[in-house]
Amino acid sequence: MIKYILFCFSILYSAPSFSQDRTFDLMPVPKAIKSTGDRFRLLKSFSIGVIGNPSDRIYKEASRSLRRLDDRMGLFFMQGNITKKDNNTTASLLIEVKRAANLKLYEDESYQLFSGAKQVRIVANTDLGAIRGLETLQQLLSTDDFGYYFPGVEINDDPRFPWRGLLLDITLHWMPMDVIKRTLDCMASVKMNVLHLHLTEDQLFGIESKVFPRLQEVGAEGNYYSQENIKEIIAFADQRGIRVVPEFDVPGHCTSWLKAYPELASVKREYELQRYFGVFDPALDVTKDYTYEFLEKLFTEMSQLFPDEYFHIGGDENTGKDWDRNPNIKEYMQKKGMKTYRELETEFIQRLLPILQKNGKKMMGWDEILRPGVPHDIMIQSWRGTESLVEAAKKEYTALLSTGYYIDLIQPTDFHYLTDPIPANTTLTAEQQKFIVGGEATMWTELVTPETVDSRIWPRTAAIAERLWSASTVNNVTDMYRRLDQISLLLEGLGSTHIKNKGMLLRRLANSVDTKALEVLVDVIEPLKIYERNAGDTMYTVFSPFTKIADVATPDQKIAREFRKNVSIYCASRDKLLEKDLLEHLSVWKENHAPFLEIVKRSPVLTEAVGLSENLAQIANLGLQGIGYMNTRSSPPGGWKTESLEITKKAKEQGGRCDLQVVTAIEELINAASK
Ligand code: ACM
Repeated sequence: MIKYILFCFSILYSAPSFSQDRTFDLMPVPKAIKSTGDRFRLLKSFSIGVIGNPSDRIYKEASRSLRRLDDRMGLFFMQGNITKKDNNTTASLLIEVKRAANLKLYEDESYQLFSGAKQVRIVANTDLGAIRGLETLQQLLSTDDFGYYFPGVEINDDPRFPWRGLLLDITLHWMPMDVIKRTLDCMASVKMNVLHLHLTEDQLFGIESKVFPRLQEVGAEGNYYSQENIKEIIAFADQRGIRVVPEFDVPGHCTSWLKAYPELASVKREYELQRYFGVFDPALDVTKDYTYEFLEKLFTEMSQLFPDEYFHIGGDENTGKDWDRNPNIKEYMQKKGMKTYRELETEFIQRLLPILQKNGKKMMGWDEILRPGVPHDIMIQSWRGTESLVEAAKKEYTALLSTGYYIDLIQPTDFHYLTDPIPANTTLTAEQQKFIVGGEATMWTELVTPETVDSRIWPRTAAIAERLWSASTVNNVTDMYRRLDQISLLLEGLGSTHIKNKGMLLRRLANSVDTKALEVLVDVIEPLKIYERNAGDTMYTVFSPFTKIADVATPDQKIAREFRKNVSIYCASRDKLLEKDLLEHLSVWKENHAPFLEIVKRSPVLTEAVGLSENLAQIANLGLQGIGYMNTRSSPPGGWKTESLEITKKAKEQGGRCDLQVVTAIEELINAASK
């Protein structure tokens, strides 16, 4: 019943603002969708046929899709792997493909999907479009009293932006192959099409070079992808219609290179792999021909390994200080009339560009590389603010947005969701807008390990995927959160550990299978946001334990988010059913501190969270009092409001690098009760 009331409220408070008649549980929402009211029933005899000009890719994906459906329904489908013999036009699902796609920017990803009572059809110009359609079909699978079915729909779909990426940094914390593969499976599920691998850093050179093997021998401490690994990643991604773009970050962020090849350095010193996170001075000496000879050999080798036409050279956060420390570099700059190290960076980009072009590559870099005099055929990745995106588009550089999509910063899903590469109030002309090709979520891994990385990527990135695929008018936050819950389960089913690892992390932390009181607390806290958790870049190194309460806590806690929303509705409506729901939560929180302390006795690592737990109990008590006053229409005693707000102020303090997410809601109750 409470659910029903909440459902009514959500309809009341946010009417959908898009034209689709229903969004089902689809994410991203298709360009156009019409439901017909039919139902296609799935039976053991379900089969897939492929006609037109099928490719190896579509056979593999159709086979994978068939098995995924069966794994969810347990129907024991009779059909095995799909091959060219499977071209029966009366198959339950008929896929019609005109040609194999070229995996490159602007390739056709459109498809149409028709599901009627008798047959489902996916029609696409390319196998890439058909693959996107297969993912839509997975998301359409529904149940009723008679079993499984696909709802009758007519879908006409096509992405808004051609570049829908995820940057995965494998250097600040090493990410083994299975992380990459499950990430690719999940990306494909929400129609993302670029995996940007950040492969080199101060801390690690994460890929094998056969030309300069010291790079991984000295710069990786065993944590790097062999060239065979890379080929496997590319093939795995290709099957799912995902491009892989490598990033080799230069001229800064390169301590690992310099430990292996100190002759590349601007300053002669002993180089060790960096263990802290942040921005450091080591930089390539870009005035030496040797550096370009080295980069030419390395980038030629890597260009042959990575088939994508884009090659990311980083270019971010070079401090210039090591260039300043080298008299030869200063003299070089003086001779060339360069006043700032930024001009030297520009020359660096200009000299790198032909190296990449010779290898058939287009250069891509962070927005620092957008400088006067930099050639036009480079892609700018905007990360320091949307201004650089606008500037790039105005200057006719292709560009994509990452500002607003930094998923490592623990911001809520709706913040990312409502960040649009081309917002409604854009100052760009229609022609200029065409230079903006999309965006990339960025998963920097300072504060995550393979155990926790999924909980930072998913499910929030699915909402970014929707922002980049669906129309800008698909922006109803309530509907997004509704669908995100379903997609989250789908992503877990594909291998993401964002839900299942929570139990393990809780048990390890509680040192017990009884984790209840810890979970109650974890469900209302979040790790400190933006760059606060790692204050001054000094709290953590690559060797730190990422197993503590801030690692179990996840962004955008649903219980806390819904509590805040319900408090606001309650304060305006005094609805009795909502009141009951709020009282239940508050009572649990109020009583949670004593059992939490029992867990801490077994698990001293949790001592850092005692303050959070105590504060939660205290403010929950204030919330109960507030509702009590509202309920009886009585005024709180003099001084209650002031004293209560003192307590909530204290409850905003962090503990264990986390903070409570329900304090503002309790303040709202205190204020409402004091009116
Ligand atoms: C970056 O976040 N340094 C591109």
